[in-house]
Formats: sequence, structure tokens, C-alpha cells
Amino acid sequence: MTSEREAFVHIQLPGKLDTVPAARLAVQTLPDGTSIGRFRYGDRYLARPDAVALDPFALPLAAQVFEFTALKGIPGAVRDASPDAWGRRVIEHQLARAPADLSEIDYLLHGPQDGAGYLSFGLSPVPPVPRRPYNRTHQLADLIATAEAIEEGRATSAQLLERMAPATSLGGARPKVTIEDGEVLWLGKFPEKADRVNLQRIEHATLKLAEGCGLAVAASRIEPVGAQEVLLVRRFDREHIAGGYLRYGLVSALTALGIDEGHLDRTRWSYPLLADQLRRWSEKPREDCAELFRRMVFNAAITNNDDHPRNHALLRTARGWRLSPAYDLVPVPLVSQERRDLAMTAGQFGRAASRYNLLSQVGRFGLSPEEANVHFEDIARSVARWREVFFECGVNAQDVERTAGAMLPQCFFATEPVAAP
Ligand SMILES: Nc1ncnc2c1ncn2[C@@H]1O[C@H](COP(=O)(O)OP(=O)(O)OP(=O)(O)O)[C@@H](O)[C@H]1O
Ligand SMILES: [Mg+2]
Repeated sequence: MTSEREAFVHIQLPGKLDTVPAARLAVQTLPDGTSIGRFRYGDRYLARPDAVALDPFALPLAAQVFEFTALKGIPGAVRDASPDAWGRRVIEHQLARAPADLSEIDYLLHGPQDGAGYLSFGLSPVPPVPRRPYNRTHQLADLIATAEAIEEGRATSAQLLERMAPATSLGGARPKVTIEDGEVLWLGKFPEKADRVNLQRIEHATLKLAEGCGLAVAASRIEPVGAQEVLLVRRFDREHIAGGYLRYGLVSALTALGIDEGHLDRTRWSYPLLADQLRRWSEKPREDCAELFRRMVFNAAITNNDDHPRNHALLRTARGWRLSPAYDLVPVPLVSQERRDLAMTAGQFGRAASRYNLLSQVGRFGLSPEEANVHFEDIARSVARWREVFFECGVNAQDVERTAGAMLPQCFFATEPVAAP
């Protein structure tokens, strides 16, 4: 049987506090399981002088129907506002429904009011009203207990589940919520029972290390909750002004690269290709391409091999699209000193996290070989101070030692590929 579901897409325009209807998305599912999404901006939205395109290339402002068959019919810029793996688990738990019984439109409609970016979804052209106040820091202990119950599939109160409504969207499996503290919104990342190290402290210290390397990084701090610690990362897609929070647009690098999440598109997970896209999307392409290059080198220096395209994003403020601040930076201690790979292609030798590869296509990032060399040396020098930064950030000695295998491995400095044995 063919079925059709629809949702209205609402937007809080950058710089504005009110939310307005922008478009209608209908997804038709054919008997063979294929989905076709049809997206159309509303005429009234198109007539607004301040209307923005959700994706300047795949969804330009035009009075026409855009059709999508990838991603179950959901355009990338919309998918980026839908709940992530963790958020989906919370929604399934809340609705007591199996994933197979829920469509992509269900996930959109049950997504959080504090979701990533500036979009929200509803069944009518009237924008949804806020359902609840933000979580506050004093509620963290209850929220951690609820996350554990969800992970273990245990029952919890409906009220607490509502409070766990997924915080952000662009991927990620660890439990997290949005927390308001004063007039700032934070993304709270929780410990997990299976953790062998204090990942919150390690991530916090790594963000500070990246900042010390001159990267643009999301602000963070640690919030103690009983014997545990929560990492609070300041949400860069929200900004408080008199009267409320502004929301900014957020799309993942997957969307900017125009690719699906599946492994078929893996060949296009690439820093140089993302730099090409930044040249089209960004208001400051030179700065953003150089910044992307430095992030790539930093990820190689600390063996952050989880640098996939959902861990890079573009942010749209009232001044247009820019590369977002860096987030989700975690060093991964590995044994091999000879060869380590990033998640994305870095240069002409594929994903190799080594100098010879990182410096092989610097022109794609708008850099001269000399400029790129200076960035590489600067980052290597700053990362060499990592123990100091980690201790300053309160990482304990055991966790510092456990991290050592990630930092500045021999292969990072290799100037040529190792010969095959
Ligand atoms: N500071 C931030 N402001 C706004 N959105 C953010 C911020 N940090 C992360 N996000 C969004 O939330 C998503 C999930 O966050 P993050 O990547 O840190 O968690 P995660 O992937 O679950 O972490 P992990 O890889 O440790 O499981 C990101 O993909 C990004 O879209
Ligand atoms: Mg992530």
C-alpha cells in the first residue's frame, strides 16, 4: 500500500525571536518501500524579504517542488534537524513503539523543541508553542538516572522522559540533554556506565587543547553531579538576547557534501571536498578553509579518528553560513605507530593521518606549502603541551596515561609512506 505522511517545516529566522512557517514536506512511501519526499516552500515565506534557504544548493528559494529519494525522502538540511541515535531511542521509549513502526516524519514530529538549528516541525502551518521550560543544572542527577534507565530498557516516569527529549540532532549515540544555566544553553553530555575513563574530563581538556592550538572551539566546562561529572558544551546554535534565545541554522558536513549517511557514500567523506563546499557556502571561505585544514591536522595529531562528517557542521547566523566551532574532539589511544587513519580523506594518500598526506593537497584549502607547514608545526608544538593542559583541566593521572597512546604518534610526523613489506 502506498502511504503519505506530511509535516510543516517552521523556522526561527536568524536574528528573530518568532517562528514562522517555511515549507511543507510530504513523504510518500511506495509498496516496494521506496520513499519520495516532496518539499515546497510556502508562497508567503518566499515573499518575505528575510527568507533564508535551508540549503542554498539543494533547496534554493524558489516556487517549485524539490523531490528527494535518498535518506527516505528527507532533504539533508531537514534530516540534520531530526533526532540522532540517542534521541530516537528516547522517542521510541516515550511512545512505546518499535523503530519499524515509526516513520521519519514521526521522528521529526516528536523531535525536541530545543533541537539543533533553527527548524521545528508540526502538523499544521501554525508554529508549535514551547512545551516545557529548559532543564536546569539542579535536575542533572535525575536526568542521569533517567538516561541509565533508558539505556537499560527500564521504565521511568513520563515526566522525566519528557525532560530527556533529545537535545541535538546531528548524530551521536551518547546520552545528552540541553541545560539552561543562567542565560546560556549548554549541551550536557553524560557519563555512561560502561566508560572506563572519565570521558567528560578528557573531552573538555581536548577542547581546551584545540583552543590552545588556535582553533575556533565550542566553550565547555565540567559540572559535578554527586560522584559523577557532566560535560557542558555551550550551544553555538543558540544566543540569548532580551526576550529569549536566537536560533541559528545548522547543517552537517554530510549535507554540505550532498551525501547520504550510508557507507556507499564513504568515498566522498573528504576534507578537500568539504573545503570545496566551504568555498560555495561560507561567507568567509579563506578563513574557513584554513580552519578546516588546521582541524584536520589537529585530529591527526591527537588520533581523533571519529572525525566523520557529522562531527563537522556549518552554522548560519544573520551574517550567513560559516564553518561551526569545533566539537566532539576525543583522542583515541591506538597501538600502531606506523599507520593511523582519519575518518575522512585528508590528501592524495587517502585517510592516512601523516604529514606526507596532510600536506599533499594544501592548495585545496587555499594554502601555500609554506603556510600549511607553519600550521602543521604550530599545531604539533601546541599539542606537545597536552599533559599540562590535561592536568590543568583536572584529568586524573591514570586517564592522562591512558590517553598518551593517542598523542603525536610517530606516524603523524612521517614525511613519506612506509614501504610495503
Ligand atoms: N556546542 C554545540 N552547539 C550546538 N550543537 C552541538 C554542539 N556540540 C554538538 N552539537 C551537535 O550535537 C551533535 C551531537 O554532539 P556530539 O557530536 O558532541 O555528541 P556525540 O556524537 O553523541 O558524542 P560521542 O561521539 O562522544 O558519542 C553534534 O553532531 C552536533 O550536531
Ligand atoms: Mg558526534
